[in-house]
Amino acid sequence: MKTKIVGTGSSAPQNVVTNDDLAKIVDTSDEWIYSRTGIKQRRIATDENAGTLATDAAKRALENAKVDAQDIELIIVATTSPDYTFPNTASVVQSNIGAVGAMCVDISAACTGFIYGLSMAEAYIQSGQFKKALIIGAEYMSSIVNWKDRSTCVLFGDGAGAVVLAAVEDETEGFRAVSCLHSDGSKGHVLTYGDRAKLSKNEQDFLYMDGQEVFKFAVKKVPESITEVLEKADMKLDDVKYFILHQANIRIIEAVAKRLGQEMEKFPTNVANYGNTSAASIPILLDELNRNNILKRGDKIILSGFGAGLSWGSTLLEW
Ligand code: COA
Repeated sequence: MKTKIVGTGSSAPQNVVTNDDLAKIVDTSDEWIYSRTGIKQRRIATDENAGTLATDAAKRALENAKVDAQDIELIIVATTSPDYTFPNTASVVQSNIGAVGAMCVDISAACTGFIYGLSMAEAYIQSGQFKKALIIGAEYMSSIVNWKDRSTCVLFGDGAGAVVLAAVEDETEGFRAVSCLHSDGSKGHVLTYGDRAKLSKNEQDFLYMDGQEVFKFAVKKVPESITEVLEKADMKLDDVKYFILHQANIRIIEAVAKRLGQEMEKFPTNVANYGNTSAASIPILLDELNRNNILKRGDKIILSGFGAGLSWGSTLLEW
């Protein structure tokens, strides 16, 4: 059984916060933020949250796919900033869109969450259990960062992206994705949030990150996983049209391109406009590329994520 991404959608809060806006609340500057991260602005929720953003993105993906919500049998939401511990965000989306009876699950794999979710949905479809799935990355990062900590609050943004994945019967259509997905829990302490022991004592816990450790990890592991996936698929770097990386930081993307000896033209980016939207960044970018008709049928693309866990991985698929 092969699968196909039959539709994409995304959503971001209306409220745009520029680097200059942030310089009014913490000791920072547009020059510092842009030169180290490539970020110019981000969207920050006012009335929105993970559930509403995920719902909007899902509705747009269903419309793009021309698929009825009632035909969706599986909803996976990758999120690190869900509105509730339970019910899960997927159930919130299910209720909002009317995907009655679908299996709903959130997965917590931070910025790698979307590609983990895509791979899990594909496995369910290949097993014959489901025919159509919604995979969503949705984040309300502004609710978990410390707005007094300049080293982290300038990096993140809110948003959601979604894809509809469907089984295809026609052998000339669709793809069998090749994925290499990994974690190293022994490095978990470099990127953390949500210590329940602190919360139970009414102490606040905010996102913590050792930026330099995460940077080193990403520029090593992302090229490794891309190479691994290509070897597994018996393909070469030149066979790949685009590398769609988690949008954390332009310097990480540039370093990966350099390590792989590939031109930056093959690495589309939108981190300047959204900042790091964690699990949402890959599907938001995928939706932009789809809606601008940049992706052509048959293009080989690699999606790569990395983040807390520490987790990382790449998926090769054909558009
Ligand atoms: N504005 C101005 N100065 C800032 C600042 C800000 N927003 N944030 C930190 N600084 C200061 C620090 O206080 C430090 O000052 P000091 O030298 O007086 O102590 C100085 O800038 C350098 O800090 P440092 O943390 O060493 O900066 P860096 O060059 O490592 O850049 C990151 C910081 C976060 C941009 C960089 O480490 C990075 O991109 N890491 C990867 C993060 C990431 O992508 N995470 C998500 C993965 S999913």
